[in-house]
Amino acid sequence: MTDVAAKDSLTVRDNRTGEEYDIAITDNTIAAKDLGQIRLTDDDPGLATYDPGFVNTASCRSAVTFIDGDKGILEYRGYPIEQLAEKSNFLEVAYLLIHGSLPTKEQYDTWVHEITYHTFVHENVKGFMHGFRYDAHPMGMLMASVGALSTFYPDARNISDADNRHMQIVRMIAKMPTLGAWSFRHAQGKPFVYPDNDLGYTANFLSMLFKMSEQKFEADERLVKALDVLFILHADHEQNCSTNAVRSVGSSQVDPYSAVAAGVGALYGPLHGGANEAVLRMLKRIGSKDNIPAFIEGVKDGNERLMGFGHRVYKNFDPRATIIKKACDDVFEVTGVNPLLEIAKELEKIALEDEYFVKRKLYPNVDFYSGLIYEAFQFPPEMFTVLFAIGRTPGWLAQWSELVQDKDQKIARPKQIYTGDRELTFTAASERWA
Ligand code: ACO
Repeated sequence: MTDVAAKDSLTVRDNRTGEEYDIAITDNTIAAKDLGQIRLTDDDPGLATYDPGFVNTASCRSAVTFIDGDKGILEYRGYPIEQLAEKSNFLEVAYLLIHGSLPTKEQYDTWVHEITYHTFVHENVKGFMHGFRYDAHPMGMLMASVGALSTFYPDARNISDADNRHMQIVRMIAKMPTLGAWSFRHAQGKPFVYPDNDLGYTANFLSMLFKMSEQKFEADERLVKALDVLFILHADHEQNCSTNAVRSVGSSQVDPYSAVAAGVGALYGPLHGGANEAVLRMLKRIGSKDNIPAFIEGVKDGNERLMGFGHRVYKNFDPRATIIKKACDDVFEVTGVNPLLEIAKELEKIALEDEYFVKRKLYPNVDFYSGLIYEAFQFPPEMFTVLFAIGRTPGWLAQWSELVQDKDQKIARPKQIYTGDRELTFTAASERWA
């Protein structure tokens, strides 16, 4: 072995056999399959890694989003999130994520035009959305209706064709707000509002949510901007649970609607996109600043979880939380202050000084304050994750697109460590129960 090779490899000694192996290190990782050569006997399947929750396993190479969790850095295609939130808009960020670079003026205009003119859905979609129970959770409705779009666009299964992929990507980014808004209207027993193509992406979404009998719904520009920023902040977050679900399901080469429906399902859970809904419920349960110390004690005793705190990747601060805190002020200027804000700020202050949270590097994540903003818009908590899903759609699709073009990718199929019984003898029920 040369010195260079020695530097870029890992020497492993298997103490069971005394054998040594050199395993190449590339991009600070070793290929898990290289461990397969470490075996006791020829018919031994070889050494594998055990990593529930993929805590230390890279599943792909990706050029979409960069995160440095220790330094609190988040970049989409190399651009810092702070700059995008301040100077860009959601559709431009969506273009950036999908195409890999910022659009020219002409590319941007074409993109916005394409998205705007695909906001309508087939009338039959409206029909089946009406079929949900009156109290259906809007995330369940969104998951089902995104999945159902695959039946309206059967050509979407042709995932190897770049133009076809582009068409489905445009359709999905365009139609998510329509499906999301209609899920909301259904729960309220209100008529569905068709898209208004004179309005921008986020303003149109607000119109489909809140328009009643007026000719035109024109939301306060500051609210439109704040929601647009929230969409930008949620647009991608590398290999998170829902993106992993999109990639995992997409790896079977299914159409992108089915893959994104899996992402919506993953996002639904309280440890992921459902966290902001859980934060709001938690703040309401705490009820007043006086109850915070008892609540914190409950968390430290393991009886509670401080929702909106902690992150698998960010161990210092979540840059999105900082931007959201500022957006809170902009929104409350229009809507008036949410009384829960005081409880949230006090909770954050106490937790950040408490040894339990400091030791575990637990900081507010993107969802700690986003629920407060959404509530100021008068969204019920069930809608919060729908808003997250709309924002995350370009990220899911950028990651899906990368996956289907990545020659290294295979159908996702982890190994297991089998812990059950073996080679039992089956006795028929008639004998067992005799
Ligand atoms: N409240 C109290 N204790 C916590 C919290 C929390 N919010 N988060 C982590 N901990 C504790 C754990 O109990 C554990 O303590 P221990 O070492 O004594 O056992 C330690 O901190 C490490 O936590 P893990 O659960 O191992 O961290 P993991 O990376 O697996 O979990 C997660 C990350 C799921 C986000 C977790 O912090 C959590 O449940 N937070 C609350 C839910 C939430 O806000 N989710 C939104 C995430 S952001 C997003 O999806 C957009």
